Amino acid sequence: MHSSATRVVLTLVSIFSVTVFAMEGSVIMDYNTRLVRTKQCIIFACSEHDLYFNVLALMAANQFVQPVHMNSSYDLVSILTRENYARTSVIVDTTCEGAPKLLKEASANRYFNKTYQWLLWGVEANITDLLPIDLDYVGPNAQLTYVNKTSDAYLLWDVHSKGRHLKSPLELHLIAKLSTELHKLVVINEIFDLQSIKYRSQFNGLTLRGASVIDQEDILTNQQIEAILSRPTKDAGVAAFIKYHYELLSLLRDLFNFTVNFRNSRGWAGRLGNTTFRLGLLGIIKRNEADIAASGAFNRINRFAEFDTIHQSWKFETAFLFRFTPDLDTRGKSGNFLAPFSRQVWLFTVATLIGINSIWLLLDYLSKRWHSQAMQCIEERIFNIRIRRNLSAHQAITNSHSNWTERILHTFGAVCQQGMEPIPRDMPSRSIVLTVFLFSVVMYNYYTSSVVGGLLSSSDLGPATVDEITNSPLKVSFEDIGYYKVLFKESSNPTVTRLISKKLSASRGPNEMGVYGHIEDAIPYLKRGGFAFHCEVVDAYPIIAELFDANEICDLREVSGLMEVEIMNWIVHKNSQYTELFKTAMCKAREVGLVERLLRQRQMKKPECQSLYTVYPVTISGVSSAFLTLLSGVLIALFALCLEIASVKWQMRRWNRFFRPTRVHKGIAIQDQA
Ligand SMILES: *[C@@H]1O[C@H](CO)[C@@H](O)[C@H](O)[C@H]1NC(C)=O
Ligand SMILES: *[C@@H]1O[C@H](CO)[C@@H](O)[C@H](O)[C@H]1NC(C)=O
Ligand SMILES: *[C@@H]1O[C@H](CO)[C@@H](O)[C@H](O)[C@H]1NC(C)=O
Ligand SMILES: *[C@@H]1O[C@H](CO)[C@@H](O)[C@H](O)[C@H]1NC(C)=O
Ligand SMILES: *[C@@H]1O[C@H](CO)[C@@H](O)[C@H](O)[C@H]1NC(C)=O
Ligand SMILES: *[C@@H]1O[C@H](CO)[C@@H](O)[C@H](O)[C@H]1NC(C)=O
Repeated sequence: MHSSATRVVLTLVSIFSVTVFAMEGSVIMDYNTRLVRTKQCIIFACSEHDLYFNVLALMAANQFVQPVHMNSSYDLVSILTRENYARTSVIVDTTCEGAPKLLKEASANRYFNKTYQWLLWGVEANITDLLPIDLDYVGPNAQLTYVNKTSDAYLLWDVHSKGRHLKSPLELHLIAKLSTELHKLVVINEIFDLQSIKYRSQFNGLTLRGASVIDQEDILTNQQIEAILSRPTKDAGVAAFIKYHYELLSLLRDLFNFTVNFRNSRGWAGRLGNTTFRLGLLGIIKRNEADIAASGAFNRINRFAEFDTIHQSWKFETAFLFRFTPDLDTRGKSGNFLAPFSRQVWLFTVATLIGINSIWLLLDYLSKRWHSQAMQCIEERIFNIRIRRNLSAHQAITNSHSNWTERILHTFGAVCQQGMEPIPRDMPSRSIVLTVFLFSVVMYNYYTSSVVGGLLSSSDLGPATVDEITNSPLKVSFEDIGYYKVLFKESSNPTVTRLISKKLSASRGPNEMGVYGHIEDAIPYLKRGGFAFHCEVVDAYPIIAELFDANEICDLREVSGLMEVEIMNWIVHKNSQYTELFKTAMCKAREVGLVERLLRQRQMKKPECQSLYTVYPVTISGVSSAFLTLLSGVLIALFALCLEIASVKWQMRRWNRFFRPTRVHKGIAIQDQA
């Protein structure tokens, strides 16, 4: 049944055209089912005969086939879509008239990539004519197979180049031979090997176009750029991650044996006016003017659609660095006398003392009453001198049962560990005094050790957020690198706006640092304190480790938050022909630990605080509460004095009025009172 249908169509086709077989079916069949093993096949041809028989044969081999007649009008972009059914091969009969146009379009749309397996039927065609130099997207990721024919066999060649835009020649490797008579396939090289990094990693000294960002005047030549980037030390206007990515680039350069001709830009991003023209490194890569960049780029959601990422490892971390000085204390803990105990403890202590005082007064009152009763009995019965002496002693005790204000003072003195004079003699008072002393020793020890511990521990951090920095007395400067200028110009974040208006707008004196500067110049200010410098922390750590002493290192604080901490992307042009190659190489470099080693070299750890503790002197704001207490005591005393004077005067006036009638009596009376 199948064969009868075939026969009918065959006769129909032979009526319309008398062309011989242009494409040999067995080659296409073997290519699809034995070499690339795809499941979908798109055939571009210009003879119905070819189309018909190949489609039938492929469908019989369980393939999903889409035939396209090249004389018809077709839209390549809608044929090669993302929604292709499976791994796809594209077969092109290059003897057809429309073939050069098709290949040109495929190159312009970057279809010679890992998504498709292309078969170029090139019998009687010359490969250098098929893929001329202006078809520039035939790179190391191309999966192109070219077929030509000798007298007795078809030859399948793997074709790629290291970059046609760089005038790199086409490289051909024989994949397989198919004898014309016996139709026997002899595989010479595994096609997937030929298409892999194994056969495509020798660039033979090809010069790629590189890009970098150095924010310095007059950096134009490749030699200048390489000299700056390969220097291991910090350079002005060069971010730490630039040098790191340059080292990664050097890894690739050694691996693939290429050289790079760099061009410089002053910044990463930005636009010209309100046009869409992109400036800086991103613009260069976006316009495909560079194959590789010695720089990372920030993650922005739109950038994933515009660039390919080949590697991510550098953690971009910037922070305000400053030296902590006690006047930066934001929480006011170091000198607060109430801090060691919580409010409940204080209230409970006061309540306890009041309770103890009342019990003591009660005891006093009871014993006084008991004594006076006892005295009466004794006076009635015994008149012995010895006992009288004893009695007078008892009288003293009774007198020492002084009034309640003195009792309160006594308790207060005991709690403040200032002793107690006179020492009470009776048992109940003594037991109370004993417990009060015990209580005060315990509490006092907790209190002092907590204060001492607080002063010794360097738990004081000072300002911890950008806003706290903005509100602190710190002077602020930034590293002289492009991204800050972009941030201040473009950010509408209220934190940044506040920072600009409070810290950056005021004019600066001659012995202050400018808004932008270099780390080396900032170090003396950092050492002195009262100054914060914002930069990439890994740039600052080595120089800080070198120039700061142990105490200064312990005082070093960092506050991030102005720019996000993020992992940077190493980007190339979207759908670059080098994406897969470089990505694979970087994966391997990470696996064998090269990336880790570079990171350890380049991302210096924060210098560690070596001294056990630092004592921060208590500042005037810390002890102010003690002075305030003293002052209020003095004021209360003065007030009490005034009150006493007033009350005495008032009493005297009343007395005077009472004895007004005789002046003589008044005089006597005053003397009397005195
Ligand atoms: C398609 O174009 C080729 C070359 O111009 C021509 O030989 C062939 O007849 C055309 N086929 C059809 C169906 O128009
Ligand atoms: C291949 O190119 C097409 C068209 O440019 C694109 O959609 C596809 O994502 C590319 N595939 C890969 C693996 O880059
Ligand atoms: C292909 O054409 C070029 C010139 O266009 C020529 O130099 C080369 O020898 C030709 N190769 C073959 C195999 O015919
Ligand atoms: C087939 O292509 C290869 C590679 O370009 C070339 O060396 C060879 O001469 C070609 N053979 C014929 C018969 O054109
Ligand atoms: C790199 O390429 C140059 C130029 O082709 C070549 O002489 C050199 O041997 C290659 N080096 C390596 C290590 O392959
Ligand atoms: C920005 O674009 C608008 C219209 O698109 C134009 O009127 C305006 O002059 C442009 N501004 C600048 C600075 O180019």
